[in-house]
Amino acid sequence: MKRISLTQYLVEEQRMHNSIPAELRLLIEVVARACKTISHAVGKGALGDVLGSAGSENIQGEVQKKLDILSNEILLEANEWGGHLAAMASEEMESIHPIPHRYPMGEYMLLFDPLDGSSNIDVNVSIGTIFSVLKAPDGMVTPTEKDFLQPGSKQVAAGYAVYGPQTVLVFTTGDGVNCFTLDREMGSWVLTQKNMRIPSETKEFAINASNARHWHPPVTRYVDEMLAGKTGPRGKDFNMRWIASMVADVHRILNRGGIFMYPADAREPDMPGKLRLMYEANPMAFIIEQAGGAATNGQQRIMDIQPHKLHQRVPVFLGSSNEVELVTAYHKAG
Ligand code: AHG
Ligand code: MN
Ligand code: MN
Repeated sequence: MKRISLTQYLVEEQRMHNSIPAELRLLIEVVARACKTISHAVGKGALGDVLGSAGSENIQGEVQKKLDILSNEILLEANEWGGHLAAMASEEMESIHPIPHRYPMGEYMLLFDPLDGSSNIDVNVSIGTIFSVLKAPDGMVTPTEKDFLQPGSKQVAAGYAVYGPQTVLVFTTGDGVNCFTLDREMGSWVLTQKNMRIPSETKEFAINASNARHWHPPVTRYVDEMLAGKTGPRGKDFNMRWIASMVADVHRILNRGGIFMYPADAREPDMPGKLRLMYEANPMAFIIEQAGGAATNGQQRIMDIQPHKLHQRVPVFLGSSNEVELVTAYHKAG
């Protein structure tokens, strides 16, 4: 089989569809290189002294792991000097990170969750990186947080890496979803799945059921009906999976269908859900939609939400379109 590298894919995509300008190509290559470095660190585990807590907390009040901080630094350093970015923002930094003045400023803005699934780091379960790319608003001179507050529909690219038994990179530039696998010996990304499509029908769902007592009625109804199986209203048996790394759950859904849910619940009305809109929900929603699936917050399309804060949270229902439509309809019905 002829191997197509990430670089060849990007060059040919630009030549054929004019969809990946040179600066965006550079951006994707730099992010991919950073993910390769993170993958290497992840793979060393205890031998690389990368496990355990860093003894600090991020803006969300979550304990930072050593790998959260290391991955954040790797992404920042890799992306500072290329001239393709105006600013960056990350789950692990309270404020945005403008490109230092010593480097040229580009037209894109990069947001990331440097290490997704932190609770799985120390137990050798798949984790990953999520990224989203926006364009700097016209006429922007000094980037501020406000410049980032664009709805997900404005993303020009989004992707994730999974550091698991295999390291894969999945991304979209709005022209379908492709998957690249890291050839660890060669150090190169090789195209391994083209134009990924999510089946619209599924028998698999993902939710942290330990929160069931806090759920709102539409979520309880939807999950109860699935749990009732063949003799219940859905007339079929369902299976459940929950990896606690969104990247790994989304990767499974992209490959064989399913629905992923992290709903808002009755605990903290001012903090709906757990996942963050700008660098978790939006990029995943873009990828899922590009693969023929759907993504809502229970009420509306995630990518239509106008953000008002960099680190704002959002309820998430994404995956196979029939299921996402059903749980969204239950929300709308009250
Ligand atoms: P992060 O490690 O970036 O904070 O994100 C973890 C997220 C997501 O990846 C996962 O689906 C979810 O948190 C797991 O939450 P629970 O611990 O509630 O299962
Ligand atoms: Mn995350
Ligand atoms: Mn994270």
